[in-house]
Amino acid sequence: METLIPIVNKIQDAFTSLGINMQIELPQIAVVGGQSAGKSSVLENFVGKDFLPRGSGIVTRRPLILQLINSPYEFGEFLHMRGTKFSDFDRIRKEIESETIRVTGNNKGITNIPINLRIYSPNVLNLTLIDLPGLTKVAVGDQPDDIEVLIKNMILEYIRKETCLILAVIPANIDIATSDALKLAQEVDPKGIRTIGVVTKLDLMDQGTDARDILENKVVPLKLGYIGVVSRSQKSIEERKNINVALTEERLFFLNHSIYRDLSERLGTQYLQQVLSGLLTTHIRNSLPYLKDRLQNQMLGLEKEVEQFKHFRPDDPTFKAKVMLQMIQQLQSDFHRSIDGSGPSVNTTEL
Ligand code: GDP
Ligand code: NA
Ligand code: MG
Repeated sequence: METLIPIVNKIQDAFTSLGINMQIELPQIAVVGGQSAGKSSVLENFVGKDFLPRGSGIVTRRPLILQLINSPYEFGEFLHMRGTKFSDFDRIRKEIESETIRVTGNNKGITNIPINLRIYSPNVLNLTLIDLPGLTKVAVGDQPDDIEVLIKNMILEYIRKETCLILAVIPANIDIATSDALKLAQEVDPKGIRTIGVVTKLDLMDQGTDARDILENKVVPLKLGYIGVVSRSQKSIEERKNINVALTEERLFFLNHSIYRDLSERLGTQYLQQVLSGLLTTHIRNSLPYLKDRLQNQMLGLEKEVEQFKHFRPDDPTFKAKVMLQMIQQLQSDFHRSIDGSGPSVNTTEL
């Protein structure tokens, strides 16, 4: 079942490359939170490398579909530059920045056209996450006045889908009841079935306060609960503190903390990563009957389309439909193989 995540990754890429509007709702995890809630920090901690653009204000201006793939080699690869292996993670950051500017311009505009990035690494578990622009209230630069609504709608476009798990990133140093991420998640998941809370900045809480009640799921209960993390402070980032050192410090923070010590097995970045990989795999497994149906339907539709084009427009835009058809046939056999339990032999060659 581990192999299910790479198969869904492949579908995701194919849809983006072909510019086809997703008619199939893929199981995925969307990262939602206010600006500076700590979203990028959580994602970088998963990878153990600095590779995301940083700064104050709005930094993420296009959705980033981040596919983490466990592999003996460590490198990144963009869908828009397939074949170019980035082993220098600073260059990955620069490429995300220039790809963002290429499509949205230089002045803080946003778009829903995603950037797809795969990171292969021995340190990651198979996991696909979508980093979305942070919720904001005030328009700056080229942003239209209704930026708040625009970002909200972009996020909703992803998290509205029943097949989307919502990673709601909530800084511990604000009142959880006013958390933008939770409010938005509640709009589409009112029963809290597919939302998981990530409480960041536990080290920044006021003396004498703690988030134990939240972490024990007593404040705003979610079926999947809450996991607390501690990431690097701005100062540590500026001093280029190594993430692996920071991860060790995170462990020690929980182990040495009088309030969190007894919960420490269920806290921290590493535990979060394990939980998410497991959840996503289960989630994909549960979605398989639905996905197969949708793929089948889309394939039937496309077969007709290709057939029509063949007769009426022998020279032209059958390309997309044909590629799509091939892709879907390939995926169908991947699915069958993975369901039949032949496991790792699943064909993950590029389409
Ligand atoms: P994003 O805007 O949601 O992606 O937030 P970032 O991950 O870029 O974090 C925003 C700022 O908060 C950065 O300066 C981080 O160093 C800092 N930060 C994030 N998480 C933590 C944390 O757990 N503890 C501390 N002290 N700082 C954090
Ligand atoms: Na930010
Ligand atoms: Mg960010």
